[in-house]
Amino acid sequence: MKTLDNMGLQQVQTVYSGAEGRLWELLMGQQIHIGGLSSSLDLAQKAGIKPGSSGVDFCCCTGAGMRFLVRFWGIAEMTGIDATETMVKLGKQRCIDEGLDDKIRFVLADVCNSGLPATSFDFVWGEDAWCYVENKPAMIAEAARIIRPGGTIAFTDWVEGPTPMTDAEAKRFLTFMKFPNLANVDDYKTLLTKNNCKVMTAENTGRYTSCIELYIQMVSQQLTYDALKILNFDQAIFEGLAGEMMFIGDLARQNKIIQGLFVAGKG
Ligand SMILES: C[S@@+](CC[C@H](N)C(=O)[O-])C[C@H]1O[C@@H](n2cnc3c(N)ncnc32)[C@H](O)[C@@H]1O
Repeated sequence: MKTLDNMGLQQVQTVYSGAEGRLWELLMGQQIHIGGLSSSLDLAQKAGIKPGSSGVDFCCCTGAGMRFLVRFWGIAEMTGIDATETMVKLGKQRCIDEGLDDKIRFVLADVCNSGLPATSFDFVWGEDAWCYVENKPAMIAEAARIIRPGGTIAFTDWVEGPTPMTDAEAKRFLTFMKFPNLANVDDYKTLLTKNNCKVMTAENTGRYTSCIELYIQMVSQQLTYDALKILNFDQAIFEGLAGEMMFIGDLARQNKIIQGLFVAGKG
């Protein structure tokens, strides 16, 4: 696992309370993950998530993934855990606006210590956010603790690809993204297995590179004004961020970063 010192939850909360978080939403939409709705559909299908069941979204942000599950997948009840107050407030309002607040609730907490009761949910869900969590062993243990026996852990995440990054590349990437570390597919398989979960799927979705290229195109060819506005029209910051996105594009094309998809069942 590639790691970076001095990066943790506080830095992530700062991102999602401010301009950087708004920039990610500009590029990706309300579903701040690679592949948007198509990725959510793919995950729900591969995980065999059942209509009428209840789940917990770890790092739910404003809850777009939960709204997808309730609206399109017939999920009875979702609980979203997120540690950034701004996102939780916005998420609650969006659920009210869409008339889904009776089925979706939010808890402001660290996913490593959710405070939710043990063996109480059918599944834990996550989309491209666990890369922000420093203590991945504690997070996976918490996910396994709160699902019932036979329950499912289903998530996508940014993970290191089959070609390892150099130390310098990892430092630059983690610093820009505010990730404290980056797991690879085997790291997650090991953690899930250690928590009495059988890994059914651990695969590369193949979506990462084309989506990063799409975001670069959007910001350079269509949304430049909107991005600059979020950045108080600071051209230097804009150029810096665009350069880092190009760097991520280079890593992606070399298979150094991928979107992983994982499904595991609790024994
Ligand atoms: C990329 S966004 C999540 C996107 C969301 N899953 C979606 O698909 O729309 C990352 C979120 O993770 C949350 N987060 C990061 N570390 C966390 C932690 N340890 N506990 C709870 N939330 C965390 C941040 O507050 C932020 O809202």
